[in-house]
Formats: sequence, structure tokens, C-alpha cells
Amino acid sequence: MEEKKIYIHTLGCQMNVQDSQKMAFLMGGAGYRETKNPGEADVIIVNTCSVREKAAQKAYSLLGRFRELKAEKQGLILGVAGCLAQQHGDQFFKMFPYLDMVVGTHRIDMLPEIVSSLRQSKRRRISETGFRDYVSSLDIPAQPVCGEFSAFVTIMQGCNNFCTYCVVPFLRGREQSRPLADIVKEVEELSRQGVQEVTLLGQNVNSYGKTLPDRPDFTGLLYAIGGIEGIRRIRFTTSHPKDLSDELIAAFGKIPTLCDHIHLPVQAGSNRVLKRMKRGYTVEDYREKIAALREASPDITITSDMIVGFPGEEEEDFEQTLQLMRDIRFDNLFSFQYSKREGTAALAFDGHVPEKIKAERLKILQALQEEHTLEKNRALIGRTLEALVEGTSRKTGDDMQGRTRSHRIVNFEGSPDLVGKMVRVSIVDAYMHSLKGKIE
Ligand code: SAH
Ligand code: SF4
Ligand code: F3S
Repeated sequence: MEEKKIYIHTLGCQMNVQDSQKMAFLMGGAGYRETKNPGEADVIIVNTCSVREKAAQKAYSLLGRFRELKAEKQGLILGVAGCLAQQHGDQFFKMFPYLDMVVGTHRIDMLPEIVSSLRQSKRRRISETGFRDYVSSLDIPAQPVCGEFSAFVTIMQGCNNFCTYCVVPFLRGREQSRPLADIVKEVEELSRQGVQEVTLLGQNVNSYGKTLPDRPDFTGLLYAIGGIEGIRRIRFTTSHPKDLSDELIAAFGKIPTLCDHIHLPVQAGSNRVLKRMKRGYTVEDYREKIAALREASPDITITSDMIVGFPGEEEEDFEQTLQLMRDIRFDNLFSFQYSKREGTAALAFDGHVPEKIKAERLKILQALQEEHTLEKNRALIGRTLEALVEGTSRKTGDDMQGRTRSHRIVNFEGSPDLVGKMVRVSIVDAYMHSLKGKIE
């Protein structure tokens, strides 16, 4: 059989990265090898994101670029997958008439079948975007990434929260959890393959298990994975503050392999805004959870997401967001200007904030966070930290690079045979995006 090639361009979050891996895996079974060069591909897929307008624009511009390849190479199949594919469905063909397929978020398991139909010219264009009660691609095993020692494992997909700004529940469907035993089996298998670090993935991992008959909970899953031999680090993302249980908080002090890092998106520091976002907690609730986390695990690294310029956000609300940041001092923060999304409730809200003001607020917020990030990193100077060595440093090319348990990058002198090993490094300097260390 003649070998064919597939190129997948991934935009968006870890869920999409996972889905791209799964598509590559499935197409591998159909005789397609993955290539990094779209110019030599027989199938090109843009795995899209729609969380903000900027992400959508990126997908459109990529599709524009691939138009030329499509014109040059007869038989080249061009498709879109992911959240924007789910959003537009077959309308995508109107926007990009040279597109051959649209594969929705619940349909990636159909990819080989779709491609085969297109190649045999059974149909000229195919769009598959229906939702399913259970997304069977959830069960396609994770492939180890970052060499052989780190892997992402999807534990659930979809979201039931419907925060008023967010398009994700409309595009990923309702929450669905994978059975606990399947996840444990998968992590055991990864461990046998040499994986030492797993990151558990879901839009809202705290509500893991609610759709399963025996209703396991997320903390139970963490304890189960904490008992798997060879797994030395467990991470997870994303946690929703309203569902962060006391048991999970306590687990930070009890499961030795659970990394002391939590990504806990707060989105705003004003109760009025949080209410309009439908987040289900107050700023006071959030502060209490942070205090409890710091009590259970004094060194815990706390990162968050923040939106500026949500409809109705006044100067005073924004000031409260800055105040929350000053009080909590996040180790790192991902911040975004509010972006209007089709189908979401906030679109119809009054008080949309002008772009210029959103941009100004974002700039102020990011400058404050930079101070905090640097302050937090510098506070680690003089400490000895455990690092999992990932490879050579991207910054210098000579040094080795590792990750601390708090997910910080640390560069240090060492030899390449350390890759995949845990080392202890004392921190000698700190910058905005990395630490400098010395092997002990
Ligand atoms: N499930 C996760 C993350 C979802 S998307 C959670 O609940 O936290 C990642 C981040 O994108 C969100 O935390 C939010 O800060 C941001 N985001 C989502 N929709 C947005 C929008 N319409 N405009 C700007 N930022 C948005
Ligand atoms: Fe979006 Fe909210 Fe669900 Fe996160 S919890 S995916 S922000 S609706
Ligand atoms: Fe984007 Fe979909 Fe992820 S909208 S952030 S790719 S869930």
C-alpha cells in the first residue's frame, strides 16, 4: 500500500492537542503517516478553537494559506475539526468553498471513514457534527509526549456550566466522564511505557464522575492514581472554584505525588461581574478556597485566568480585580479581553465595553501580574527544588531544562543523559519565565 501523509495543525487548548493525537493515531491505522510539512501532505486538517474571536481568525487565515496547496495538488483533502468546525458545521463550505470536510468534536473517530469516502469520490464534501451521548474517542488511549515520560490523560469532556461568556459547552457538549477503572488502566499502561508524569484533563475536573453510574469523585481518582507505581507526578486542569471540595484541598497535603500547583480560574474580582458571568461563587468564597489551599499546602503555586471588559464591567469592578490580584498574588495569570461569542448569553447583555478600554485594562492588569510573577519566582532563589529533566534549554541551547513540581521552567548545567530523570537543583536566579539552577 502506498504510504500517505497527514498534516494536522492544532489551535486551542490541550483538549484539541489530545484530539489531534487521536486523529493521527486513527489515521495511522489507515496507512497515513504524520508529517510536519503541509506541502507534502495528502490530507490537511486544521483543528480549530473558537474560545475567542482571535482563535477563530487564526483558523480562517490558515485555511486561506492552504487554499494554494489545494489548488496545486490534485486529490489533496482539506478539512477542519475542533470547536469552530462544531460551531459552523456545513456553513463552513459556504465560507471556504474549497474545503472538503468538517469534523465535529464528537465525531473524530469517523475521520478514517470520511477520508476514505472522499477519496473514493463517494461524496464530494462531508460534514459530520452531531453530538453523541458518549464520545467514543474518549477511550482512545493517550500517547506519551515530551519524550517518553510525560502524558496527558483525558478524564472527561464537555461542560455543563454555561458561564455566560463561554462558547465551550455549546461546542463540546454536555459533561461526560470516563470510567475510573479505564483511566487507572490507561495510567498504569503509560507508567509501564516509562511515563512518570500525568496531567489529567477536563473542562471542569472537579465534577468528574457525576455522569457515571457508580459516581466516583475526582479526589478518589487522584488517590487511585497516587497509588500507581512509577507515576511520580500528578497534575490536573482545569478546576472550577465552585466545585473545589474540601477533600480535594486536603489531598494536596496527603498524596505525595500530587504536584503542589493548582490552576483555579477566577475570571473577575468583582461580585457583580462574577454574578453576571454565572460563575457560582463570590470573591469571598474564592479567597476562602485559596486560604484553605495554602493551609493544606503552604508552598502551593496558584495560577488563574482573568477576563477584562466583560459587559457591564465598570472602572470600580476592574479596580476590585486588581485588588484581588494584589491580595492573592497569583504565581501566574492568563488574561484575556472579553470576546463576543455566538450563542452565549453575555452577547445580549448591555454595557459592552469599548475595545480601547478593554485593551487599556488588559495592559494595566498584565503589568501588575508581571510584577507578581517576578516576585514569586525571585522568592525561590536559595531554595532547592525537584526538577524533571525535559531536554536541552530552548533559551541557551547548552543548558538542560527541567520542570519543577510547580511547573516552572528551570535551566541548569548538566548532561543530556539526565533527560527523563528527577534531579535536585538549587535556585540561583529567577526571571519572568524561568529559573536558573545548579544541580546539587
Ligand atoms: N474550562 C476552563 C477553561 C475554559 S476556556 C474553565 O472553566 O476555567 C479558558 C479560558 O478562556 C477561560 O478560563 C476564560 O478565562 C477564557 N475565556 C473563555 N471565553 C472567553 C471569552 N468569550 N472572552 C474572553 N476570554 C474567554
Ligand atoms: Fe467555559 Fe465556564 Fe465551562 Fe469553563 S466552566 S468551559 S469557562 S462554561
Ligand atoms: Fe478552544 Fe474548544 Fe479548547 S473552544 S479552548 S479548543 S475546548
